[in-house]
Amino acid sequence: MNVLMSGGRSGIGKAMRTTLVDMGYSVYNISRSEGEILCDLSDTKTLEREVKQWLQTHELHVLLNCAGVGVFQPHETLSSATIQNILHVNLLAPILLTNLCLKSLKATKGHIFNVSSIEATRHAKYSALYTATKSGLRDFGLSLFEEVRKDEVKVTSLNPDMTKTPFFDTLHFAPSSKENEYLVPQTLANTMRFILENEAVITDITIRSPKFGIQKKQGK
Ligand SMILES: NC(=O)c1ccc[n+]([C@@H]2O[C@H](COP(=O)([O-])OP(=O)(O)OC[C@H]3O[C@@H](n4cnc5c(N)ncnc54)[C@H](OP(=O)(O)O)[C@@H]3O)[C@@H](O)[C@H]2O)c1
Repeated sequence: MNVLMSGGRSGIGKAMRTTLVDMGYSVYNISRSEGEILCDLSDTKTLEREVKQWLQTHELHVLLNCAGVGVFQPHETLSSATIQNILHVNLLAPILLTNLCLKSLKATKGHIFNVSSIEATRHAKYSALYTATKSGLRDFGLSLFEEVRKDEVKVTSLNPDMTKTPFFDTLHFAPSSKENEYLVPQTLANTMRFILENEAVITDITIRSPKFGIQKKQGK
């Protein structure tokens, strides 16, 4: 049983990758720096070529779109390059990967997981671009499920709240370090495992810490 994923080198994706290996899957990760498929997700030509080639020799049971980047600052301050990169990595790449993989997923009655965000479920200041990509990804999955359920393909959108990962390394804030105020990647990996092992299809799930907290970084 094969998984094709992105984002498996770090954070939430790393925990999911380890859990999938524990479950007996062979996991193929797309990464810019280390993984079975070396590719920048914003390079759509290379991505298409590499994935088409991989699909010629592998069955696919799970497509896991986990890679993502965020910026949270006034929209007018974003460069065109930043806007394009976030749209490519968070939204275009998962839609393109799904397009390439659906034939194989229909053959295996497979499962698509899209790691969206809590930001897809609400409207927060300085998140317009990120929210556009994550709500786009979430609605893409929900709509796609209506189309592919006749072929028994499952589609799940996971919408995590703040999770302690390197995602925040370049941001001016980070999850709280107080007990019960943040999520850890393994909680999301456990949720994915529960959904994969469930007979019914869980199309959309929001995972939050019991309490809310945030840390502003000094000097940022
Ligand atoms: N952490 C949170 O609080 C939180 C909350 C809600 C949703 N999310 C979402 O969860 C997902 C995982 O994030 P994380 O928190 O685990 O962050 P992370 O540790 O920073 O991981 C991000 C991953 O995205 C991949 N990536 C970024 N740009 C890429 C590119 N151009 N091409 C290929 N891969 C690229 C990286 O892979 P390589 O470096 O190997 O290329 C890395 O593995 C993201 O979609 C994020 O939006 C996170």
